[in-house]
Amino acid sequence: MKSDLAQIVVSEDEIKHRIAELGSQLTELYRKKGVEEISAICITNGSIMFAADLLRHFNLHARMDCVRVSSYKDEDRPVTEPEIIDQIRLDLTGQHVLLIDDILDTGRTLDKVTRILRAQKPASLHTCVLLNKKRRKENKVAPDFVGFTIPDHFVVGYGLDFAERYRNLPCIGVLKPELQNPPNWCAARKDEQPASRR
Ligand code: IMP
Ligand code: MG
Repeated sequence: MKSDLAQIVVSEDEIKHRIAELGSQLTELYRKKGVEEISAICITNGSIMFAADLLRHFNLHARMDCVRVSSYKDEDRPVTEPEIIDQIRLDLTGQHVLLIDDILDTGRTLDKVTRILRAQKPASLHTCVLLNKKRRKENKVAPDFVGFTIPDHFVVGYGLDFAERYRNLPCIGVLKPELQNPPNWCAARKDEQPASRR
């Protein structure tokens, strides 16, 4: 799978190291505030890997729920307004909420979800994204915690997908140009690689 990448943007080791740091920083933040339990809300599918690893470095109690949002369909840029496909079930009133997402691009997704969460009147709301793309944000969203700031490329891996593929890559990278929007993904890969490397 790694051979489908033109460039590795964040390596597996860098991800591991940074997530351990973020987990400690978040634990410290809530501990200092005297918070004993948080409600972690993960935006799926993209943040699944990140949230799973981050929360294992978070050393206080955490309830967990997911909100499923889609705006990319099978493209490499947003094709619709972020659409809530599956709502959270937890009651967040008076809770300390940590919203976790994979990547901040235009900011539309985080903006929409934070509005929905705020309407539930949580005691506090913090946001944490693994990646922040260097590009002009459409909304005034600034995440409280960021793993890495990356150039404005479409990236895959560690939860991030292209047409639901590559989420299970352990690192984050940019696909080879011929694999970015192939009309037939399987055929494009066969053309490109010798049979022994498939
Ligand atoms: P935004 O609403 O434009 O900030 O985009 C956020 C959502 O789009 C994220 O939750 C991701 O699921 C998806 N996304 C944005 N950029 C990328 C990318 O480079 N690769 C894969 N998914 C992305
Ligand atoms: Mg996605």
